[in-house]
Amino acid sequence: MKADFESIYTAADPRPYFTELAPLDYQIPAHAGRVFGRFADHLHARGLPVVRIADLCCSYGVNATVMKHRRDFGEIVAHYTDPAVAGLDDTEMVALDRAYYAETAAAAPWIEVIGMDSAAPAVAYAERVGMIDVGLAADLESDEPTADVLDALRGVSLVAVSGGIGYISERTIGRVLDAASPDAWFTALCLRWVDATAVVADLERRGLVVERLDGVTFRQRRFADDTERDFARSETDRLGLDQPPDDGYHHSDLYLARPADDVSPPLGQLVSS
Ligand SMILES: C[S@@+](CC[C@H](N)C(=O)[O-])C[C@H]1O[C@@H](n2cnc3c(N)ncnc32)[C@H](O)[C@@H]1O
Repeated sequence: MKADFESIYTAADPRPYFTELAPLDYQIPAHAGRVFGRFADHLHARGLPVVRIADLCCSYGVNATVMKHRRDFGEIVAHYTDPAVAGLDDTEMVALDRAYYAETAAAAPWIEVIGMDSAAPAVAYAERVGMIDVGLAADLESDEPTADVLDALRGVSLVAVSGGIGYISERTIGRVLDAASPDAWFTALCLRWVDATAVVADLERRGLVVERLDGVTFRQRRFADDTERDFARSETDRLGLDQPPDDGYHHSDLYLARPADDVSPPLGQLVSS
């Protein structure tokens, strides 16, 4: 089984989240922020004045700290685990973070992040302090999107998710893509031991061309314990995938889905350019 971090996803601010995950060398937002940010930069460079990204399962806006604010993720972890912030009350923490994110709000002015998560306190905090531009508390696995959600998703040109496939399926992703721009890209960092087959099949059914980056995986965090490691290894075997390096970490694969008339340059080139 995977360790259960449910309670840290719904705290009033991100301190418990980072305090719990930092000892496990939690780092997937560093990779997601860099790679998804690179896709957004590419879309901007070829003519989109503003690239609207829908970050699904965004939690406290962790990917936006890198892709929008261009912060070093290690600095973000240090910010929330600093003993000096542990004693701040809610108002003081919000004030500190508002000033903190105001410093870098214009680091990539062509990027707008719409963060969506079923954890209402997390998206509300991320929006309140300016980590993300718009926060949507929604569970599109269970519910139809409301008119507000549909409005907020209009004009989205990149739909992204890290660490979320498994929690959400092709149902949420399809509902978001239906509301986004018709030529939107979809990208995901998906744990290697999570079955992405149905998501990929649904993207292909929509006419998108799906690539999975070959030969490279991305560290998510350390295994919490041996049970998690054994579970990840047996699930990877069950799916018939090659085992990632046995280095004590969860590894994710990178996917990119694009319209058939928009598949150049190839994924490997986009990631390394
Ligand atoms: C493992 S965290 C991923 C956070 C971040 N994207 C990352 O890569 O580290 C999973 C997130 O999915 C959210 N989630 C779980 N079920 C969901 C659902 N049905 N709809 C939207 N978000 C969901 C949780 O609240 C949590 O914030």
